[in-house]
Amino acid sequence: MTEQEEPKLTYGGYLDLDAILNAQHPLAPESEAPGVRAAEHFFIVTHQAFELWFKQLLLDLDHAATILPPPHSDAELALDHLQRVASILRLLVQQMVLFDNLSPRSFLAFRPYLGSASGSESGQFREVQRALGLRGQSGSPAFNAFTAALEARGLSLEDTYREPSKAGVLYRVAEALVDVSEQFWQLCAVHVQIAERTIGQRPGTGGTTGVSYLAEGLESAKAFPELWAVRTRL
Ligand code: HEM
Repeated sequence: MTEQEEPKLTYGGYLDLDAILNAQHPLAPESEAPGVRAAEHFFIVTHQAFELWFKQLLLDLDHAATILPPPHSDAELALDHLQRVASILRLLVQQMVLFDNLSPRSFLAFRPYLGSASGSESGQFREVQRALGLRGQSGSPAFNAFTAALEARGLSLEDTYREPSKAGVLYRVAEALVDVSEQFWQLCAVHVQIAERTIGQRPGTGGTTGVSYLAEGLESAKAFPELWAVRTRL
């Protein structure tokens, strides 16, 4: 290799695996049974994977919202992004189910070390809620972009659902948004279930009542209510 040549790109370098694979730091001391540290490692990895997927789906939602509005609407490409968001959420529902394999006993063994740290501090989760119009006043940018694209074609939501062929790709965009809404709600619902399975009715580490607090949140976790309401009016 001459002095000017760039070092060869490697798999690990490209993916920054050194950083990623050294970012798991269980807090339970070595003196705990070995299974406890393995369980905590599992807990950490799962949450980290969630955060990585949140990052990706925020990127896709943002991109869909950028390319959907008229006059240069690229609804086919936006559809790809929205379908990917729905697939990621479907994967995350399954990933939540992984916690069925974390026994209450193992979790309780390392839970005291978490202090007051809680999933409710996830900034990216709040951003996902915002992107879906479930937080803040401005509504979902992706959904607003979709309605702008519909208006530019002179279509109402009723038209879109009564005559899908006339609406074409925008009908499929509407249904991709319904998938996103449904999978996000499923994710919140399965989170309540795994919380109950793991900690029963104990309070959360973040200071809430725990499962009952999470169950109440389900009432307001359905994104894009217009797309659910139109079904009743057809
Ligand atoms: C054993 C597994 C889990 C248990 C027992 C659990 C339990 C809880 C509880 C009790 C709360 C209520 C807040 C509090 O007082 O702490 C909460 C909130 C939350 N958790 Fe989890 N959780 C688990 C896994 C996860 C995972 C894997 C994620 C993914 C990032 C997650 C994300 C969240 C978020 C975003 C909130 C805030 C929800 C809201 O306020 O709308 N949790 N969790």
